[in-house]
Amino acid sequence: MVIHGGTRLEGELRVQGAKNSALPILAATVVTGETSVLKRCPRLRDTDAAIRILRHIGCEAAWVGRDVIVRSGDVRQWSVEESMMREMRSSIIFLGAILARFGRAEVSAPGGCDIGMRPIDLHLSALRDLGVQTQECSGRLLCTAPQGLRGATVTLPFPSVGATENILLCAVCAKGETTLYGAAREPEIVDLAAFLNGCGADIRGAGTDTVRVVPQETFRSLEYTVRPDRIMAATYMAAAAVTGGTLVLRDAAPERLLPVLPYFAQTGCVVQCVGEDIALHAPMRLRSGKLVRTMPYPGFPTDFQASAMVMACLSSGTGVFVETIFENRYKHVPELVRMGAQITVQNNVAVVEGVPQLHGAKVRAADLRGGAALVTAGLAARGETVVSCVRHIDRGCENFADNLAHLGANIHRTEE
Ligand code: UD1
Repeated sequence: MVIHGGTRLEGELRVQGAKNSALPILAATVVTGETSVLKRCPRLRDTDAAIRILRHIGCEAAWVGRDVIVRSGDVRQWSVEESMMREMRSSIIFLGAILARFGRAEVSAPGGCDIGMRPIDLHLSALRDLGVQTQECSGRLLCTAPQGLRGATVTLPFPSVGATENILLCAVCAKGETTLYGAAREPEIVDLAAFLNGCGADIRGAGTDTVRVVPQETFRSLEYTVRPDRIMAATYMAAAAVTGGTLVLRDAAPERLLPVLPYFAQTGCVVQCVGEDIALHAPMRLRSGKLVRTMPYPGFPTDFQASAMVMACLSSGTGVFVETIFENRYKHVPELVRMGAQITVQNNVAVVEGVPQLHGAKVRAADLRGGAALVTAGLAARGETVVSCVRHIDRGCENFADNLAHLGANIHRTEE
């Protein structure tokens, strides 16, 4: 992406559907054995990867206009090839979905952004609680439930989003009730439960740390609209903020942005939420916000840390960031420093001294959110910024360059 910075962003945007909701819901379509229509499904590299997995295991899955339709009646394959698993982290959610359907599954380690170790030990120990036997052989993971999946009391020592999703997918098809303590409370868990409940499941308490699941034998077809992407909403707000712009986000589910709205206010942005819309007016120069410590929901989202840091880079003060979720999530820092940012990192703490202006540079996206943050920095920088490896951005940001151009940014894509 080539950006000529310095233009104020101004205008309106409808936020895309949430990637982190769409992916587990696409996996959940396997569980129902019925027809599912996903409206407002974001068209992304990751959702296309999920559709490839669905087809591989025998579903009919296709884009019809802006919707995805999945028919999972004829699923016949319980193993997912390594190349497909490597495409993204969320491929691991197919483990729970396929286990729920077949009582067995064969997968390999998932891929995704290189932002830390990202092990799956919590997923596997919870699945064992539900009667699954796991066996690793030559990099492949074979999971079987010889006596069938059985409901259980499961306690997660850390509220892993992916592990919570795998547990829900298996619990809806198990024999007997499941109670999950220590569940992740992210809105995307609420979305997965809403989809499954719409299909006939009985999941209570999603969005709290205790979730109860009463299994069901049959499910029904469902048309479901994916909720707006809270991380993309915040990302566009940050883009408007660093350019001193104004932005109206339509249908953006403001209540899901409560963990980040105070940060915008601290930096001097005026944010108004009216119904489902959010309006942001940025000041000429941002102020530094309070310390940002990433935490599980309802804490400050790790997925917004990089874009928030770009705001701090351009603010009139010092910003401090503590990344507690992933151990390798500062890969955007050296790239921002190339653009004139003043950031020092020690372990998981980054200290940002705000500067009046960044300058354009050739920088490289190392992961999805960090890549979007580099584009955001480019929007505010003097001169030309070229962000390479934008395939990472394509994993999660739908029509990113086009949407920013619609808001007045001078941005275009070229072939790498
Ligand atoms: C999901 C999101 C991702 C977000 C993250 C944290 C999707 C598709 N992705 O990722 O955008 O950044 O939540 O909000 O929804 N962990 C373990 N063992 C496990 C599982 C996780 O140690 O078995 C660790 C991870 O390495 C990480 C932390 O727990 O340090 C959080 O991981 P988790 O909540 O599972 O994130 P994901 O589901 O991978």
